[in-house]
Amino acid sequence: MIRPSLPPLRPFLALIAAFLAGCAPRSDTLRIGEYASLTGKEAAFGQSSHKGTLLAVEELNAAGGVLGRQLELITEDNQSKPGESATVVKKLISRDKVVALVGEVASPRSLEAAPIAQQAKIPLISPSSTNAAVTEIGNYIFRVCFIDPFQGVVMAKFAREHLKLNRVALLTSVSSAYSVGLARYFKEEFVRRGGIVTLEQKYSEGDKDFKAQLTAVKAAGVQGIFVPGYYTEAALICKQARDLGIALPIFGGDGWEAPQLMEIGGAAVEGTYYSTHYSPEDQSPAVVAFVNRFKQRWNGEVPDAMAALGYDSIMILAAALQRAGGTEGSRLRDALAATQGHAGVTGVTTLDAQRNASKAAVVLTVKDGQFKFVTRIEP
Ligand code: PHE
Repeated sequence: MIRPSLPPLRPFLALIAAFLAGCAPRSDTLRIGEYASLTGKEAAFGQSSHKGTLLAVEELNAAGGVLGRQLELITEDNQSKPGESATVVKKLISRDKVVALVGEVASPRSLEAAPIAQQAKIPLISPSSTNAAVTEIGNYIFRVCFIDPFQGVVMAKFAREHLKLNRVALLTSVSSAYSVGLARYFKEEFVRRGGIVTLEQKYSEGDKDFKAQLTAVKAAGVQGIFVPGYYTEAALICKQARDLGIALPIFGGDGWEAPQLMEIGGAAVEGTYYSTHYSPEDQSPAVVAFVNRFKQRWNGEVPDAMAALGYDSIMILAAALQRAGGTEGSRLRDALAATQGHAGVTGVTTLDAQRNASKAAVVLTVKDGQFKFVTRIEP
């Protein structure tokens, strides 16, 4: 078919379209990729982190967005499964063209995604992965929380000074970089403070029966048990320990933080302790206001450390985007690296030369099925 009138018109229309696109206010969104364990074994981590992350995005958008554009949070679920974080992060980068990535809570999954972000030169901010190696992957990898060399010191100090323990047993998840790292830093500091790690027992992610390890612990004559793992196994360990008649103090790190600790552990987790990043009982105006806004948005739910760190991650990213004046990867990277004195919900964030933050930790206990503040330990 011959359409003689069309060819001359086409370039003209294209010219008008290009002109309009150049003049009109940009209506396109600024895309941020979130990868999280929304389902599966650590669903509590991803769900909670996501709620804080989304709240921050919504608040920024309501206030006019960032760089004159609305933020669009594109969230992908890695189902808590090894391998899935790499898959979804590749998708977020190549299909969705996100300008930055937020995630993960758990260190093993941040360790999986970070090399991909680094390679693509897309800044990645982990809200709450504490394993030392995460940010060592490269100069595009950031976190807004403290690291396990500090968290290990916190719990060793707590065990020696507060619990007055001399001899402890360690129960480490050898298939989790988080658990292995935290166990190591705890041990170093506990020994440095004159304590003895009498026994070290191992388990793997997904294990359900800890009777053999706990029987050995029972026979070892220790005064306490340190369990640097995630909540599912930690709760089962507490339960089976009590079933075996072990009444010793049991304590862990931030991986314990989830309502499921109580749901699975019940009475067995009463009186246990763990270290984390923030307490919703904190009466500082920033925390009180955040807790109120979060409860309003999420059906009265009280935000935990992952929610608070998810929120702070987005606010720190938004401030960096604003300072960078654009979304180009290397400019945004440099702006993020220059983060200093950002006052957020989880305290003041200043990123050091290794792209880590240094912040206080809190120790919480379980009392009457609720997390309760015990003490705060400064860096
Ligand atoms: N710090 C844990 C990790 O690195 C994750 C975590 C953070 C869990 C905060 C609970 C609360 O794997």
